[in-house]
Amino acid sequence: MMYQPIKQLLSEDNVGRRVCLRGWIYRRSVVGGKAFVRVRDSTGIIQVVVDESNLGGELVKTLKDIGLEASVEACGTLVKQPKAPTGFEVIADYFNIVGSSRDFPIKGGEGVEYLLDNRHLMLRSPKYTAIWKIKHTILEASREWFNRNGWWEVTPPILTASACEGGATLFPVQYFDKVAYLSQSAQLYLEVMIFSLEKVWSLTPSFRAEESRTRRHLAEYWHLEAEAAWYDMNDMMKVAEELVAHIVSKVLEERRSELELLGRNTELLKKAVETPYPRIKYDEAIEILQKKGLNIQWGADLGADEERALTQEYDKPFFVTHFPKEIKSFYMKLDPQNPRVVLGFDLLAPEGYGEIIGGSQREDDYSKLVQRIVESGYKVEDYKWYLDLRRYGSVVHSGFGLGVERVLMWIAGLEHIRDATPFPRFRGRIYP
Ligand code: 4AD
Ligand code: MG
Repeated sequence: MMYQPIKQLLSEDNVGRRVCLRGWIYRRSVVGGKAFVRVRDSTGIIQVVVDESNLGGELVKTLKDIGLEASVEACGTLVKQPKAPTGFEVIADYFNIVGSSRDFPIKGGEGVEYLLDNRHLMLRSPKYTAIWKIKHTILEASREWFNRNGWWEVTPPILTASACEGGATLFPVQYFDKVAYLSQSAQLYLEVMIFSLEKVWSLTPSFRAEESRTRRHLAEYWHLEAEAAWYDMNDMMKVAEELVAHIVSKVLEERRSELELLGRNTELLKKAVETPYPRIKYDEAIEILQKKGLNIQWGADLGADEERALTQEYDKPFFVTHFPKEIKSFYMKLDPQNPRVVLGFDLLAPEGYGEIIGGSQREDDYSKLVQRIVESGYKVEDYKWYLDLRRYGSVVHSGFGLGVERVLMWIAGLEHIRDATPFPRFRGRIYP
């Protein structure tokens, strides 16, 4: 028997043919002597009709009591059926239950915590299937963009000796007889690699021991980072916007039906395909926010509320640049025109989503970098190797990090970042 992906079966050409499929029971109902079984596989859903006059009353009775998510295989004639969910159905002449399923724990209407406890089963839903396919395309598009533009993909470590994004969110791990940390960012290692490969990028897990559970923070997320020699802040902002525009355009092209299943408004998304994206300085952002009546002073970091308010001003992603140095990391280069601010940028997604990328031009001067390390309360000896990059052939360079789940949240129109990763990690739980 030749089992075919369900999606392949859903075609006029197959009408009248005998086809075989296999998958899991998604819905079923029994009316009279007929069972209507909706089977799903990774590609789609199709209705299979099991008629007792054909396959016997025993099977129809079993199907009446069978639990959702039993695995099955079936063969039969494909017919058009406008009333069936995907327009076709299979009139079975063969139907076999491969793996039974009794009392599948998810029936609909359960609460968030219960569903998280049953995440290993919940992930079978068509909604999640659509989300992972979109994530796949986001990653594929990213790799494609870097390959087309002459960047090298590299593999930085996850176990690290020092902080990149501040001590507060570090995860310590026992490393033989020492303490090491899970990586917050590959940036410092990517900075090493540009001295040989010039334009590098990586995709790695990053870890942040975030204190609070929010809609957009995970303790473990996928981090896509780029770093390039000879690039100043503006060059790197162009990379960020071209990359994001390419990702959105590919998802719109290849994941239409998944976006539709998730109810995503693709007209809004389309606007992100056009570059350049608007750019505003932090100073202007503060003015806009104050005019909107938010209580924020120059010097304060932009939180989720402030970002959401700013996103109301734009219908596509936009950059906020030149933040006060106190709220940004030690490695960002100070603006020579105004050393109170850094040559740093965030890219914010519209529709309330906020920061999806953080990047900057890096401090390339040895003594200025030493000063910033000291000011930030770090030990200079911990960064000796990093400082060496400024002693031996230092060059202007810049980079950024993109949060893959943040981008997915925005593109797929998700409410919560936990739905952008199959096994979310955040404070208080690490199951399954
Ligand atoms: O802005 P961040 O902290 O920047 C860095 O880590 C730089 N060292 C990156 C670089 O220049 N190579 O993080 C970058 C991005 C954020 O814009 C956000 O999209 C994502 O990583 N991110 C998170 N995503 C999910 N959960 C969290 N807790 C995240 N923290 C940051
Ligand atoms: Mg940031």
